[in-house]
Amino acid sequence: MNNMKTVIAPVNIAVIKYWGKRDEELILPLNDSVSATLATSVMCAKTSVFTGPQLTSDEIWLNGKKESFTNKRLVNCLEGIKAIAAKEKSVDEEFLKWKVHVCSVNNFPTAAGLASSAAGYACLVTALAKLYNVKSDVSCVARLGSGSACRSVYGGFVQWHAGTEPTGKDSIATQIAEASHWPEMRALILVVGDSAKKTSSTKGMKKTAETSELLKHRIEYCVPQRTTSIIQAIKEKNFPKFAEITMKDSNQFHAVCLDSYPPFVYMTEVSHKIVEVIHKYNEVCGEVKVAYTFDAGPNACLYLLEEEVPKIISLIKYVFPSSSPDNFVTGLNYEQHELSKDFLNKVGLEPESVDLLKYIIYTKVGEGPAEVTDGSHLLDQNGLPL
Ligand code: DP6
Repeated sequence: MNNMKTVIAPVNIAVIKYWGKRDEELILPLNDSVSATLATSVMCAKTSVFTGPQLTSDEIWLNGKKESFTNKRLVNCLEGIKAIAAKEKSVDEEFLKWKVHVCSVNNFPTAAGLASSAAGYACLVTALAKLYNVKSDVSCVARLGSGSACRSVYGGFVQWHAGTEPTGKDSIATQIAEASHWPEMRALILVVGDSAKKTSSTKGMKKTAETSELLKHRIEYCVPQRTTSIIQAIKEKNFPKFAEITMKDSNQFHAVCLDSYPPFVYMTEVSHKIVEVIHKYNEVCGEVKVAYTFDAGPNACLYLLEEEVPKIISLIKYVFPSSSPDNFVTGLNYEQHELSKDFLNKVGLEPESVDLLKYIIYTKVGEGPAEVTDGSHLLDQNGLPL
């Protein structure tokens, strides 16, 4: 059907973090960032968009709840795609005038604080681009929804170029390498039990940009070097180099949060324990085998190669025992592995109290957004939620 499109889109987890804007309205960042897009088979947003002459207003339903369409970022995304469609003359003028209905769901808990806005906006913008037959890059429109969303428009390894234009037209995402370039790359998301209300990314990065001296050093010296090096590491499939840069950049991102005035923190004691576990593991292995990275919350994302997964899951289960071990790991399948006494002695870690970690999501690097063609739309023929 030409007046309905449904798309799924992935989350992405940055290895060089975006933190700080030079333009709040256009969502232009102070620095380049780099991420990996994670498989939609494990975690994704799904969005249906519908248009027709019978609609009287733009409407949106998010995870089963009707929300207001007055949100500036949402309006900017819709207008951004319509403006490109008008320029490209990709649909009739009449078709562009009709209102739209949007229905979107995540297949993972939004409350877990897992980059849901990135997947959501990438999904919305891609669905609208398909509805209006837009052919050019839409990452600059996804960026207007949430900065990090522009990286979810592509699969594999992605760079968001900060750009220099005041209009933001060169602040776009490009693909560094496809997911198939490094097929062994895996991600484990360790969901940390935490209910404390956090400073939102938008508010936090504003505070950092206004007050942190360390951020200036990060943007001028650290990020440009790290971006070049990590792109090279990805191209060469050099895991130890990729992992070291990833961990250092995560650590520095959290350091600039502490250097903000007043300071704010996202990592908890459990997050710091995870950092310790990974460093000890790498030390015993005699090589960097696993990397951690933390966003604006306590959850860890571990990047590692497939062969390391059974051992790391086993170690995490040992250090963070669960009261429901059968449902502790979701996502991809993996082989069970029993760590030897000797290995555990060398790592020298004791089990923590039970249920500090809620669960683990096991996933891999995957493809970008894709149209759903099996007819499983979220809206009916009248544009109402099913
Ligand atoms: C820590 O993209 O959520 O995840 O642009 O204000 O919507 P806004 O912020 P958002 O920030 C993400 C910050 C981060 C790092 C990253 O993904 O690069």
